[in-house]
This record gives sequence, C-alpha cells and structure tokens, in this order.
Amino acid sequence: MSRLDSFIRRLEAQRACLDFACAAIAGLPGPVLELGLGNGRTFDHLRERLPDREIFVFERDPRPHPACWPDPDHLIRGDLADTLPGAAARLPAPAALVHADLGTGDAARNARLAAWLAATLPPLLVPGGLVASDQPLEAAPLEPLPPPPPIQPGRYFLYRRRRC
Ligand SMILES: C[S@@+](CC[C@H](N)C(=O)[O-])C[C@H]1O[C@@H](n2cnc3c(N)ncnc32)[C@H](O)[C@@H]1O
Repeated sequence: MSRLDSFIRRLEAQRACLDFACAAIAGLPGPVLELGLGNGRTFDHLRERLPDREIFVFERDPRPHPACWPDPDHLIRGDLADTLPGAAARLPAPAALVHADLGTGDAARNARLAAWLAATLPPLLVPGGLVASDQPLEAAPLEPLPPPPPIQPGRYFLYRRRRC
C-alpha cells in the first residue's frame, strides 16, 4: 500500500471513529478533551459535530490553522505530562469524550506515551465515556470497542470507560 493510501485510510478511520464517538455520547454529560491540536482539523470536526459541548484542547505548541484556534479559556497550553494529571480540577465535569491524536514516527515514544495515557485518562472520564485514539491504549477501566464498519481494526482505536 502506498503511503498516500495509508494516510487516507488513517484519516478515514479517524473521522469514522470520531463520528461514532460523537453519536455515542449523546445523552452523556461532560466536556470533550482534544489532546493535540496540530493543524486543528479534528478540533474543527469535533466542534462542528458537537456544537453544544465544551471542548478543552491540550497542546504544548499551538500552531493551528488561523480559523481553528480554540478560545483562550479552552486552550490548555503545556506538555501533557504537566497539564493532564491535574486537569480534573480545571474541568467543569468529567469528560464524555477524549480524543488523543499524539503519535509521531517514533514507535518507542508512541508506546511510552500510550502507556502513560492509558493510566492517566480513566479518572478524567465519566463512566461510559468514550476515548478515540491514534494509538492502542491498554487499561482495565477502558473497554476496547470495534471500529465502526467498514473500518478495519488497528487503524484507529475506540474505548469506553467501564461503568464499574
Ligand atoms: C498529529 S498532531 C494532531 C493533529 C490534529 N488532530 C489535527 O487534526 O490537526 C499532534 C499534536 O500533538 C501535540 N503533542 C504531542 N505530544 C504532546 C505532549 N506531550 N503534550 C502536549 N502536546 C503534544 C503536538 O505538538 C502536535 O501539535
């Protein structure tokens, strides 16, 4: 598969998982956490799909498209290692959805960050809340969900925080 095909499939999987998650949290209270602003594409998608949700964006070096800046009250600047562990005190409620798109070409770094996120995210989520992630996350409180058809497993990852 060419790198272009691979890139397009990843974006199709990302969009399908985000759309699934946005629908799945209907009726579940809580804000959305966007981990990694990047160009702001997925932030823009989430705010379009969820116009009534607060979306808090975590980013260490914000440089989005000019049309995709979060408002200052919803942009949490800094490295996640510093900003995420204490985030519950800043959020109005546990999150209904977390989207993590933080991966790079460094597989070892991705694995370390994913292991840390898997341990750090569950207390920030409302029971039944969803996680969509570019990296697999392994944690007992997170139940893996299959990607929505026709997305093949392993391209993007969905989890639901267990209720007990
Ligand atoms: C792949 S980009 C996100 C792309 C975004 N989803 C989009 O659609 O435009 C990853 C972003 O995560 C940020 N990031 C990576 N590791 C981080 C960390 N430890 N703390 C804060 N931000 C981080 C990077 O600076 C980068 O902007």
